[in-house]
Amino acid sequence: MAEGRFDNPVVAALNGFFDLFRKQKLQNRLTGNDMIDGRTCLVTGANSGLGFAIAVELARRGGHVIMACRRQIPEAGEKVKKVSGSGNVEMRYLDLSELESIHSFCEGLKKDRVQLDITILNAGVALPKARETSSGQEEMFMVNYLSNVIVSSLLLKAGVIPNKISGNRKEHEARILFISSDSHQGSSYVDYDEFGKFIPYGVSKGMEYYSYFKLVANTFFTELSRRLNAGEVDVGIHVICPGPVNTNIVKEAPWLLRNILKGIFSIIFRSPAKAAEPVVYLAVSDDFVGRSNEYLHMFNPRKMDPKVYEVEEGIRLWEKSMELWKSIDKKAIIPEI
Ligand SMILES: NC(=O)c1ccc[n+]([C@@H]2O[C@H](COP(=O)([O-])OP(=O)(O)OC[C@H]3O[C@@H](n4cnc5c(N)ncnc54)[C@H](OP(=O)(O)O)[C@@H]3O)[C@@H](O)[C@H]2O)c1
Repeated sequence: MAEGRFDNPVVAALNGFFDLFRKQKLQNRLTGNDMIDGRTCLVTGANSGLGFAIAVELARRGGHVIMACRRQIPEAGEKVKKVSGSGNVEMRYLDLSELESIHSFCEGLKKDRVQLDITILNAGVALPKARETSSGQEEMFMVNYLSNVIVSSLLLKAGVIPNKISGNRKEHEARILFISSDSHQGSSYVDYDEFGKFIPYGVSKGMEYYSYFKLVANTFFTELSRRLNAGEVDVGIHVICPGPVNTNIVKEAPWLLRNILKGIFSIIFRSPAKAAEPVVYLAVSDDFVGRSNEYLHMFNPRKMDPKVYEVEEGIRLWEKSMELWKSIDKKAIIPEI
């Protein structure tokens, strides 16, 4: 059975608190000169929390920002425009728990000839109990893991994220960032008996699955980076943990737990604007040109859990993920990378 690092959300939250006192090695590297005029950025889950703050900062730095959300269209986009002072912001509908929605979203970007310089896969959920999606997966598995596999595969295949295979790589490589959590450290190896199946769970297992799915996704993006970047870097693929952030991530927790967690969050966690800084650094800075598979924990370069880097694990996860995608989605287009 898959296991995560924490089965208690309060312990997990307090553990995040101690991270705030660690030295932030690269924190002075992001400056006002790191502008992205003319570049196009996608942020999923940008109507709330960290994603909203990232969208504001990318717009402020001159980017054309596409906010991919399932709610608050157009209000959240109007708010980003107001806070950033930029009109170069648009919203598109995307529900990552629905295959149809993922396809229409990706086809829409292709039809409109969008070329993404920066793709930030930020959307995520922390569910207190299992919910089944219309394609038969558990929702946290779908939103936090499989949808990111599908979105990145479709956008690479269509050349919406420019790359050598689609023949439209630009001078500076495109970047994909996956927003992870350092709570992935210590989670178990991928459990292929459970993989993609709907298995009911409650609050404590929900917390474990949250960190475990982050490990699964980190392993996938490490494998994607290996496949795309043998030799020189074609697409920079990076993973980051923003540290503890005061957001709506626990909005679905039971009433009492939610209020305890919200209390901890509001007193000791960082604001989304502060937590967005290292994400924006990794997304825009020239420090990462020609590099891939970096992992930042806030402003600290770190190693992910050692299992994430195991080549056999990466290959197996890639194959199992593509197999699963094909089995649930008639429109699956498996990338030949
Ligand atoms: N908060 C932390 O301490 C912390 C720490 C480490 C990592 N993270 C990661 O940071 C990322 C952002 O989370 P957050 O803390 O900013 O929480 P948040 O405020 O709840 O934001 C999560 C975003 O994901 C979106 N989302 C959820 N399910 C979706 C779906 N089916 N389709 C499309 N969008 C969906 C949410 O949309 P709705 O508003 O419609 O629900 C929201 O915009 C997540 O990946 C999370 O795991 C957070």
